[in-house]
Amino acid sequence: MAGIPDVSLSAGCRTMPLIGMGTAVYPFGCETMRSAIIYAIEIGYRHFDTAAIYQSEQPLGDAIAEALLLGLINSRDELFITSKLSCNDGYSDRVRPALEKTLKNLGLEYLDLYLIHFPVSLKPGVNVMQLDKEDIVLMDFKSTWAAMEECQRVGLTRSIGVSNFSCKKLTQLLSTAEIPPAVNQVSLRWVHEQGVSMLVKSFNKQRLTENLQILDWSLSKEELHMIDQIPQRKGFPCVLFVSDVGPYKTLEELWDGEI
Ligand SMILES: NC(=O)c1ccc[n+]([C@@H]2O[C@H](COP(=O)([O-])OP(=O)(O)OC[C@H]3O[C@@H](n4cnc5c(N)ncnc54)[C@H](OP(=O)(O)O)[C@@H]3O)[C@@H](O)[C@H]2O)c1
Repeated sequence: MAGIPDVSLSAGCRTMPLIGMGTAVYPFGCETMRSAIIYAIEIGYRHFDTAAIYQSEQPLGDAIAEALLLGLINSRDELFITSKLSCNDGYSDRVRPALEKTLKNLGLEYLDLYLIHFPVSLKPGVNVMQLDKEDIVLMDFKSTWAAMEECQRVGLTRSIGVSNFSCKKLTQLLSTAEIPPAVNQVSLRWVHEQGVSMLVKSFNKQRLTENLQILDWSLSKEELHMIDQIPQRKGFPCVLFVSDVGPYKTLEELWDGEI
């Protein structure tokens, strides 16, 4: 192990390594992904982030199977695997089948963390990359989250969380939740607080190594101050979910002002 610090999420869940490897590349699908993940496991990455829409679940599953065969890890339990519910499955009756499909793609029996990818639903069957304005639907947080909770209770995932939720939407979800979200995964320009978990995506061997070496040095007070002056913004503001005929007509509405 490269000595990556861990954080505890919830009882029964493997602790989450604070540095994880991202697998989102656009256009989706990438021939070098599988070998990059195997190399990452070899040099100490144990936390991997995928999502139904990234189309990276299968290559990640293939890489995990190969890492086990090669003896790079002794058991899948040594890894922390996150995946995410896509918007067109953002309905109570579609959550569990979507997670079962994700597990099949990964060749795994359980996830460590399953997230609602965006606080928005799409009409079932719609391709998120080719959506029409009319396809965007208000997500029913209460019933969708209840279905997520059921997935945790039956052991398909060790913990559950959300992604791209504003504080207001998180408060709304918490008002009916029985299990609070373990995580709200957001994409910011830079991670400014020590202890915050982050995902780094590289399929390049040298940069995969460099991204673990951040543990070996620290920024000076002056450097931290200079970075503090840079205005923060969302790395992926989800403009595609804004529509004049949908539930969110502006980015301010989608993020409740937290752009
Ligand atoms: N929940 C969400 O909605 C959400 C949104 C965004 C991201 N994510 C997750 O977070 C991960 C990371 O996303 P991101 O937006 O931060 O990354 P990103 O936009 O994919 O940026 C990574 C880019 O930086 C390059 N890079 C990586 N390490 C480098 C280094 N040491 N020096 C120079 N260049 C380097 C990579 O290129 P090479 O591959 O060529 O090195 C890649 O092009 C994603 O893969 C995904 O898993 C989640």
